[in-house]
Amino acid sequence: MDGSDAPEQSHLNEFLADVVDGLSKPQKTLACRWLYDEAGSDLFEQITELPEYYPTRTEISILNQHADEIVSALGDDALLIEYGAGASTKTRILLDNLNAIAGYVPIDVSEAFLLYTAETLRRDYPKLDVFPVVGNFMAEIDLPELPSGQRVGFFPGSTIGNLSDDEIESFLNGARSLLGDDSRFLIGVDLRKSPDILVPAYDDAAGVTAAFNLNLLRRINSELDANFDLTCFTHEVRWNDEASRIEMHLVSICDQDITIADQSFHFSAGETIHTENSRKFSIETLTPVFEKTGWTITNLWSDPGNLFAVLLLTAE
Ligand code: AVI
Repeated sequence: MDGSDAPEQSHLNEFLADVVDGLSKPQKTLACRWLYDEAGSDLFEQITELPEYYPTRTEISILNQHADEIVSALGDDALLIEYGAGASTKTRILLDNLNAIAGYVPIDVSEAFLLYTAETLRRDYPKLDVFPVVGNFMAEIDLPELPSGQRVGFFPGSTIGNLSDDEIESFLNGARSLLGDDSRFLIGVDLRKSPDILVPAYDDAAGVTAAFNLNLLRRINSELDANFDLTCFTHEVRWNDEASRIEMHLVSICDQDITIADQSFHFSAGETIHTENSRKFSIETLTPVFEKTGWTITNLWSDPGNLFAVLLLTAE
C-alpha cells in the first residue's frame, strides 16, 4: 500500500470495526461521532437553524447578552483554545467584544475546514494570531509553541452532552492538564427541561434531523460496502427521563438482513439502532464531575427561560 493511502485506510478500518462491534451488541448501537461526514456536517448546520432546535440560538443569545461580563471575566491576555471549533461562529462574539487577546487556537478534526476557518478569521481580524491545530478533542492533543497568556478553553454547543460519564471525565481531565494551572474553561451546557420542548428539537417537522440520522446508514453503504435500504428504517426520538437524555434511534420497519463488508446482521421488525445520546444537565449533577476533574464553576450565564447555560470554570 502506498503511504499516502494509510490514513484513509486506517480510518475505514476503524469505522468498520466500530460498526461491526456496535451492531453485534444486544441493543444495536452506532457511535454518534460517525454522524459527521461532509453530508452529516451540512445537515447538522441546517439543524442549528431550525425553529424547533433552540440550543444554538439560545447559546448565541446568552453570549451576546452577557458579552461584556464574559469578556471581562476572561481578561485582556486570553489565549483562547477552542475544542471542535468548526466554523468558529460563536467565537466571533468573543472576538468582537474582547479588547485584546493573546491568540486563538482552534482545534478540529477536519483539516480542510480548520484551515479555511483560520484564513477567514485572519482576514476578518487582521490583528489576531491564529494557531490552528488538527486533532480530535477526545484524544491527546499536541499544541504548537504558543504565546504566553491566560489559557481559556472554549467548548460551546453542549457537545459535552453527547459524551458518556467516562468520556466527560476523561475530556475534562485532559482539558485541565492541557490548559494548566490558573486556566479557565468556558463551556456551553444544555439544561434539563420539558420533553414537550426537547422531543420536537430532535424530531423537527421538516425532517432534517431524520435525514441527519439516516445519513449514517448512507455513509456506511458508501464507505463500508453495505446494503442498507434507507426506506426500511425510520428516525425515532425518545426522552429517557431517568438518564436525563434525548436518544436518537433508527427503527427497522421490517425483518431484514443487512450485509456489511461480507458480514450479515439481522434486524427484527421494530428493532432499533441507538445512534446518539444528547444529555440534558442540571448544574447540581455537573458540579461534582467538575470538582473531581479539578474545575470549579465561577460564573453561570443563562437565558430567561433557563433553557441553556454558559459556565465559566476555573482550574482549582
Ligand atoms: C452536536 N450536538 C451538541 C447536537 C445535540 O444537540 O446533541 C447533535 C444533534 N443531534 C441531533 N440534533 C443535534
